[in-house]
Amino acid sequence: MRISRRAQSVAPFYAMEFGKHAAALEAEGHHVVKLSLGEPDFGAPPAVTRAMREVVGSRPMSYAAALGLPELRRAIAGFYGDRHGVDLDPARVVVTAGASAALVLAAAALVDAGDEVLIGDPSYPCNRQIMESFGAEVTLVPAGAASRFQLDAASVRSYWTRNTRGIMVATPSNPTGTSVPPTELAALCDLARERDAWRLVDEIYLDLADHDEQGRPPRSALAHDPDAFVVNSFSKYFGMTGWRLGWCVVPEVLVPVLERLAQNYFLCASTPAQYAALACFTPESLAVCEERRAEFGRRRALVLEGLAAIGLPVPVPPDGAFYVYFDVSGTGLTSWEFCERALSEAHVALTPGRDFGVHTAETHVRLSYAASAKELREGIVRLGKFVANLR
Ligand SMILES: Cc1ncc(COP(=O)(O)O)c(C=O)c1O
Repeated sequence: MRISRRAQSVAPFYAMEFGKHAAALEAEGHHVVKLSLGEPDFGAPPAVTRAMREVVGSRPMSYAAALGLPELRRAIAGFYGDRHGVDLDPARVVVTAGASAALVLAAAALVDAGDEVLIGDPSYPCNRQIMESFGAEVTLVPAGAASRFQLDAASVRSYWTRNTRGIMVATPSNPTGTSVPPTELAALCDLARERDAWRLVDEIYLDLADHDEQGRPPRSALAHDPDAFVVNSFSKYFGMTGWRLGWCVVPEVLVPVLERLAQNYFLCASTPAQYAALACFTPESLAVCEERRAEFGRRRALVLEGLAAIGLPVPVPPDGAFYVYFDVSGTGLTSWEFCERALSEAHVALTPGRDFGVHTAETHVRLSYAASAKELREGIVRLGKFVANLR
């Protein structure tokens, strides 16, 4: 069968190869410490699971509106008001099958063949794969420790060409858990807007980011730039990865465009998941999610301390999400070799930098602390012995 060039050019998730190897080790009876997964281990808040049980069987699960259930769009808009101080018209909220579907809609709505898109390196790999599938020429802009592994206005300016049509930022980032400082994010958005380019800000980890000294949550990019294309999800803060539910907030002019695209691509996001997700925004569920955020903070401290003790430097400590991006160059191994050997010799699963770009790919490894404190401690002990044996 003839496979499209587009499909052939999509790179695999290298982490999957490690996943297969980890599964094979487990099948042989080994206990593998999995610090490679990008999903919280908590699951949905209990009220959401309860709501799902009630919803199923109580009504026919017909298609919802392509833009999402009106009551869920209102609830999401209300969340921006309560938590982020952004007064948002619910009409600008589009409910999607995870942030992933929002990214597909963004690419379909914004990209023509040959348009150049600037994305930081390292970054979430699907961003560039989706953009390229729609014909974009993606330029990976090297982003090192000095800019918190994130795009900054100076580098974007220097990489800008006459074909640049948009920039993509995820803050906090996967794989580094580091955020773009608010003033820098404002400068990035201003720069793109002044050049008539779109700016897509992926805020899927925003609500898992640290609060400031006054206890205020970080602000959405919408607070500075109401016309940014902002992507978010129920997957991470609400722990609902498998429910396949997310959303985007888009400029008014894009709403009918996304409606047409969503009608054709997806018809709608999961109807039962949308009804159940209404229970995310109750005080009870938000309190559960805040406790989980605090737990991630404790786990992060444990991991940072552990990695420092075994001599694996973290160039920029994360301030959100549940990832640590550490440097293995001192071990004499590439990140790929490090991950391969850590898995086969110490039975610890990690993700090599290669999944996230090229710039720091060979020297850095992503560790996910979305695992229990007990597993994290065990993982650090095993990595400590493994690293000591290398020296
Ligand atoms: C930065 C980022 N954006 C988007 C996604 C997609 O998330 P979902 O489709 O589950 O909402 C992920 C998943 O890990 C991610 O890390």
